[in-house]
Amino acid sequence: MSKCKSFNEVIYFCDGKKCCRYNEEAKSCLKELLKETGLNQSVSLEKMKCQGMCKSAPVFYIDSEKKYKKEVTKKKAQKLFDKYIVA
Ligand code: FES
Repeated sequence: MSKCKSFNEVIYFCDGKKCCRYNEEAKSCLKELLKETGLNQSVSLEKMKCQGMCKSAPVFYIDSEKKYKKEVTKKKAQKLFDKYIVA
C-alpha cells in the first residue's frame, strides 16, 4: 500500500514574506470548511513559494482550474470554496 495520499484537488496558498502576513484568516477558513465537509480527505491545502504577485497578497492557486486568486479574504475564501471545491 502506498503511503502517498492521492488528492483530487490541491489548493495552494502563497507562503512568501508578504502573503504569509495576510493569509491566516483565509487559510484557516478553508481548513475549517474542508474539515466540516469531510473534503479534507480529497482536497489538499499546500503552501507554495512567492509567486511574484506580492501586491495582491494573499495569493492562492486552484490547481484544477489553473487559476490564481488574489487578495483572498475570508469571504473570498468561502466563495472560492463554494465555486471550485463543492460545485
Ligand atoms: S509573497 Fe505571495 S506573491 Fe509574493
